[in-house]
Amino acid sequence: MTPHINANVGDFAELVLFPGDPLRAEYIANAFLEDAVQVTDVRNMLGFTGYYQGHRVSVMGHGMGIPSISIYAEELIRHYGVKRLIRIGSCGGVADDLKLRDLVVATGAGTASLTNRTRFAGYDYAAVPDFELTAACYQQAKQRDLNARFGNVFTNDLFYGRDAALLPAMQRMGVLAVEMEAAALYAIAAEQRVQALTILTVSDHLLHTEETSADERQSSFNEMVELALATGVA
Ligand code: ADE
Repeated sequence: MTPHINANVGDFAELVLFPGDPLRAEYIANAFLEDAVQVTDVRNMLGFTGYYQGHRVSVMGHGMGIPSISIYAEELIRHYGVKRLIRIGSCGGVADDLKLRDLVVATGAGTASLTNRTRFAGYDYAAVPDFELTAACYQQAKQRDLNARFGNVFTNDLFYGRDAALLPAMQRMGVLAVEMEAAALYAIAAEQRVQALTILTVSDHLLHTEETSADERQSSFNEMVELALATGVA
């Protein structure tokens, strides 16, 4: 047990799919895994372990923002021996040609947070995912003919009340999207010598007002989960 996870050592697989929302974790366990069992429920941050195509896989919620994902990632890695974490989440589109429901794979993450500078003697840390996981994801996305974009994201601390200069700066620098966790996950994984990747679907766009139906959102979520599972077991 850890302060935030009441599973026993051995209850988690080496591969963890990591959505923000614990109810998404429960949905994934029920819809995609065989013989899934719930392994933790502290603060209702649910975690499950089951099998995908014969591979042992866990799925657990990580909450919103860097402080929350950092707690769960550190405890999963240090106490439960997790070796591969794939965050699956949503992002706000920044690139003009991104559409709602497109997939974004974060091959780098800048951040407004000071946490990575705290880890890195005050300097800017280049937060990147594991190369092999990224390559596997690229191959799986191509094989499935998915509309996935690979590139930089920005991990913001604020969902509301962004710095007005940030959007034009992100556009100038070719940032694809904003989200709230990837930069920390990548730095923690690097420090702990494990693999991490972030796959996102565009849920809103900072420049355009478009809407999607609940059915469309569900089908793009399912595509992302399948891509993450195929990547994780490849
Ligand atoms: N996740 C989804 N949409 C987002 C946005 N607009 N900003 C930050 N994180 C997000």
